[in-house]
Amino acid sequence: MMRLVMACLVAIATIQSGGGQARSGAVPAPEVRDRQLFDFDWRFHAGEVDGGQSASLADDSWEKVDLPHDFMIEGKGQEGPFDPRSPGGDSNGYLDGGISWYRKTFTLPAGASGRRVLLEFEGVYMNAEVWLNGRSLGTRPYGYSTFQLDITPYATFGGQPNVVAVRVLVQQPSTRWYSGAGIYRHVWLTTVDPVHVEPWGLVVTTPEVSVERARVHVRTAVRNDGAADVTATVDTVVRSREGDVVARASQNVPIPAAGVAIAAGDLEIARPHRWSVDDPYLYSVDATVRIGGRARDVERSAIGVRTAEFTTDRGFLLNGTRVPIQGVCLHHDLGALGAAAFDRGIERQLQIMKSMGVNAIRTSHNPPAPALLDLADRLGFVVMDEVFDEWKQNKTRFGYGQFFDEWSERDVRDMVRRDRNHPSVVLWSIGNEILEQRNAQAGEAMATRLAGFVRAEDPTRPVTAGMNNPMQAMETGFAKPLDVIGLNYNLGVYDRVRTVGKSVASETSSNYSSRDQYNLVLKDGRVDVVNQLNQHCTSYDFDFPRWGNTADTQFQALSRAPWMAGEFVWTGFDYIGEPTPFRWPNRSSSFGIVDLAGFPKDRFYLYKSQWRREPIVHILPHWTWPDEFKGKEIPVWAYTNAESVELFVNTRSLGVRTWADVKEKHLTWQVPYEPGRLRAVARTGGKVVAEDSVETTGPASRLELIADRSLLHADGQDLAFVTVRVLDGRGRLVRAGGNPLVRYRVSGAGTIAGLDNGDPTSHEPFKGAEHSAFNGLALAILRTTRTAGTITLEAASDGLTPARITVSTR
Ligand code: GAL
Repeated sequence: MMRLVMACLVAIATIQSGGGQARSGAVPAPEVRDRQLFDFDWRFHAGEVDGGQSASLADDSWEKVDLPHDFMIEGKGQEGPFDPRSPGGDSNGYLDGGISWYRKTFTLPAGASGRRVLLEFEGVYMNAEVWLNGRSLGTRPYGYSTFQLDITPYATFGGQPNVVAVRVLVQQPSTRWYSGAGIYRHVWLTTVDPVHVEPWGLVVTTPEVSVERARVHVRTAVRNDGAADVTATVDTVVRSREGDVVARASQNVPIPAAGVAIAAGDLEIARPHRWSVDDPYLYSVDATVRIGGRARDVERSAIGVRTAEFTTDRGFLLNGTRVPIQGVCLHHDLGALGAAAFDRGIERQLQIMKSMGVNAIRTSHNPPAPALLDLADRLGFVVMDEVFDEWKQNKTRFGYGQFFDEWSERDVRDMVRRDRNHPSVVLWSIGNEILEQRNAQAGEAMATRLAGFVRAEDPTRPVTAGMNNPMQAMETGFAKPLDVIGLNYNLGVYDRVRTVGKSVASETSSNYSSRDQYNLVLKDGRVDVVNQLNQHCTSYDFDFPRWGNTADTQFQALSRAPWMAGEFVWTGFDYIGEPTPFRWPNRSSSFGIVDLAGFPKDRFYLYKSQWRREPIVHILPHWTWPDEFKGKEIPVWAYTNAESVELFVNTRSLGVRTWADVKEKHLTWQVPYEPGRLRAVARTGGKVVAEDSVETTGPASRLELIADRSLLHADGQDLAFVTVRVLDGRGRLVRAGGNPLVRYRVSGAGTIAGLDNGDPTSHEPFKGAEHSAFNGLALAILRTTRTAGTITLEAASDGLTPARITVSTR
């Protein structure tokens, strides 16, 4: 890693606020800083290459790829992509890592000569080493850290080719979940004036926020890579979402050659529009660096004006109001896309979570793709931003422990520097279930050290850790430096932590289920629900591991503990790897409230009924059962937030259920099975507020395709998520046994980026052109090209009427 030694001059002065509401019109794009997405036209080689960094190496025969790219998701097992002997084992979904190389040839214009050229990698998994024109620029072991490299010293300008080479080494297991492998996040190429705002050098906080005013503190670190001392003017402008200038200030700072100066001061926003999860209003801050009146650089950051506070008695307060954290933990993979961090894939996940009533995300157990935080700011989520799953004591053979001594300071500080302007971030986590919790010698010292790095970079937010041994962590001193006690599971200690301080249930429940697998069996002439059957956990919501509990139990525990800030459920989405309670052949988890393909399981409606206000009712199971079930009682559940639900089988009422004497969050009936229609009518105040029904379906007859969006960006990055529905002759979803093999054909301005169906036991590849449906549903993910046009997807299956759909790209 190249290190620059620099003289540092600190000049702090107060910026005078211009106030006022001057209309600025459209915000001009900053032209002085040229930041380009560097994702296209890479060459990829799986396996080691001798001299892979050499500028003269011929790489034309290497595979052409665009980023984000995950080489692990394709798999190379003996039996389809998955390999039971894979060293990553069940944790990594039986998919393999290894060594791989990426190269990209590019030119820089003559006009860029004399400027600084920076490459930014949002994340490379893992052990990345980067070369430019054969010269090593540095390494970055941790696959979840974002890093910048100054390539100027080795770059050539004026049309001569430059070659950037990246080697990754993924030894397994390095994580307890699917890691993915390769350059799985965006890369950016930035060209700036020698006098420029340092990477992550624009820091904005809002130390005072009230209804009348907000004090906005802006600190801009400006670097002078030139040979002469300069005096720069730093102009700071705060704009509303609509583009109005709401505050501005200006300051002169002398910056010595090869030095850094800091302009810092306060601006004021009158009657600020505050950011919240329900109204995620964003301002923007521009810091423009001028010399002799000419703009040399502009750095921009979105900001939100809000107060966020964890309390000992009222939980979490946003702008002074108690907001119970209705959160989910999310791993970083995007199902069939693997770890490839497509912005639209992340956005879709967050939209699905929002529609369930989620207001908080825990980035378990690593810093997320930057897009996740941009989206959280914009869509309205608070975030617990987490850095590690292990410190020095390894949980996995090739895990972070081997890097801890050398890299932990850098990785912690870089997470905070990168993410501290995001209004969504309200809590920093220095680790999950860290084994040093139990270490009386080292635990406290290590936690104090890491928490210290966080506070040095951001004194405004609290520090936590997700603890599975909280009582021991308090005895060993591990928990001492934490501002907020993060409790993973351990419902029994909620009362005891009350006396210690602020707390949040950082991980809860771990319920597991497969979508639409109810596991009903006939036993002694009766219908029985079996927790686990044929490698599937029942979709009635009562199955969980030894350390977990049902969602119901969790709701009850939190309602008795109003001093706690709320919960982060394990997990919002299924993820690849950790197929608890199974192992092979299952290759993905069942913890998700939503399956791996993004289709809600029944539990989605349980959380929705508790977390959203609009009336809902949802019944389970489906209503297509074998003839032997006729007349036998089947448990029917309703999730609802209404006062009562009346259930009908065909036209006959089976009675009204209310919440009187019901502890759980569902209403139940025992219904003798008869084919036909089961209908739930939910009432509040005597009025019908919601209905739901399930019907006995006939055999599969045709396919239907539904795209999530009809107009996409022709930018090579946008995605259409197309749901494939298997319908019977009357257009009803065939949920029971609707598992036909679907074959796809795509044409026009897009490609298939991934295929899935949400079945955790499936061994069909996530890539290719065919995939089975699972319980009536399948997913095809289309990726746009950089040419505008239309994308047509055709889906066919033996004996079924095919379907086609067209989306446009612009
Ligand atoms: C937790 C752990 C998670 C996941 C979960 C499964 O203890 O923090 O990463 O493994 O268990 O229930």
